[in-house]
Amino acid sequence: MNSKKLFDQAKKVIPSGVNSPVRYFEPYPFFVKKSQGSSIWDVDGKKYVDFCNGYGALLLGHTRKEIISAVSQQLKTGTLFCAPTEIEIELSKLIIGNFPSIDKVRLVNTGSEATMTAIRLARGYTKKKKIIKFEGCYHGAHDSVLVKAGSGAAHHGISISDGGLSEVSKHTLVVQYNNSKELEQVLKKNNDVAGVIVEPILANMGLILPGKNFLSEIRKITRRFHVPLIFDEVVTGFRVSPGGAQKYFGIKPDLTTLGKALGNGFVIAAVGGRKEIMNQLTPTGKVYQASTFAGNPISVSASIASIKTMNKLKNKIYPKLEQYCTLLSRAIDDMASDLKIPHQINFTGSMLQIFFTNKPVIDFRTSKNADAKKFQKMFRSLLKSGVFIAPSQFETVFLSDAHTKTDLNKTLDAYQTALKSVKN
Ligand SMILES: Cc1ncc(COP(=O)(O)O)c(C=O)c1O
Repeated sequence: MNSKKLFDQAKKVIPSGVNSPVRYFEPYPFFVKKSQGSSIWDVDGKKYVDFCNGYGALLLGHTRKEIISAVSQQLKTGTLFCAPTEIEIELSKLIIGNFPSIDKVRLVNTGSEATMTAIRLARGYTKKKKIIKFEGCYHGAHDSVLVKAGSGAAHHGISISDGGLSEVSKHTLVVQYNNSKELEQVLKKNNDVAGVIVEPILANMGLILPGKNFLSEIRKITRRFHVPLIFDEVVTGFRVSPGGAQKYFGIKPDLTTLGKALGNGFVIAAVGGRKEIMNQLTPTGKVYQASTFAGNPISVSASIASIKTMNKLKNKIYPKLEQYCTLLSRAIDDMASDLKIPHQINFTGSMLQIFFTNKPVIDFRTSKNADAKKFQKMFRSLLKSGVFIAPSQFETVFLSDAHTKTDLNKTLDAYQTALKSVKN
């Protein structure tokens, strides 16, 4: 039981023993020794099929050879310069090539930094204050967006974080996901809105798909009110398609945030968009954003290798992910139906989630209605069978290109046992 021993030590020196709250689960999380492809091993030698996948970051799987090789090469010539490099231009061109809505892009380190910068840009550009977000969308751990957020905040019941300033959060207006009428009404009542931020596919309240016309409606409405629309594609960028959810749904936002699969396991994120907005960034403009590690050559080389691999193999990777995800989702759905367990399963592309409820899950409220205790029971049973999914109802199951048919078979056996345990 080395994980237990390590957790006891960790709790003494790290708050709650973890460096991000979503990693904690009862009675203690397993400690990781190594990973490869679709697998992750704990310090006790147990092997898991990994469907947490760095919360969606590892689209190409762990230790992907093209990326490890690019990073190994880069390590030989330096890790941090804090002066411009040619590879930053190469990466920016790759991002712009994949995302037609992006004229210019600035590299940052994390998704939180990307959304913080996007919001500051929207405020700087419009000279307005308020931001509209959708309940349950998670955009990172900063005050403007840590309001009725999903993911760990929803899991731990934090609607507004202690220590967050009400002077800041009062400028964040919250509307229901999949409710474009409500967005329109709020915009009619407020003429001080700087931007609307949305996860085009909501992957932080479990998985919630946008209704048929939701994204095109909010695009139309924000245009009509001259309010910049920010697509937070930290999860969906490169995952839903090489051009993200915006390419998949054919919508052009004004600003886009990217992270996770942009670096396939390396620390990198980005904010990009229309040049008249992006040019507000200092030193050309007066919207300040800065970082010591932004555009560091290690992350940039990893990202270039990731994007080139995704672009080169797109006709193989994305259809395979969709085929595997559909197969997994339909089989889990059938098993739960056979066991007469009330449930919903939402899936698309390489993402899925099950909810133990009778009603379709389309927003924060319907997701909250699902039986999260049953989900925890299922999670624990899956773990026991060697299948690792994120430990919360308010997260998503992520597939990677490294998953194999053997992984799927093992996973389906594990779900069968887990669903039986939920029934009892
Ligand atoms: C949609 C979305 N935006 C932003 C973030 C924040 O990214 P990071 O954890 O890299 O700060 C996340 C993290 O899960 C996310 O899912």
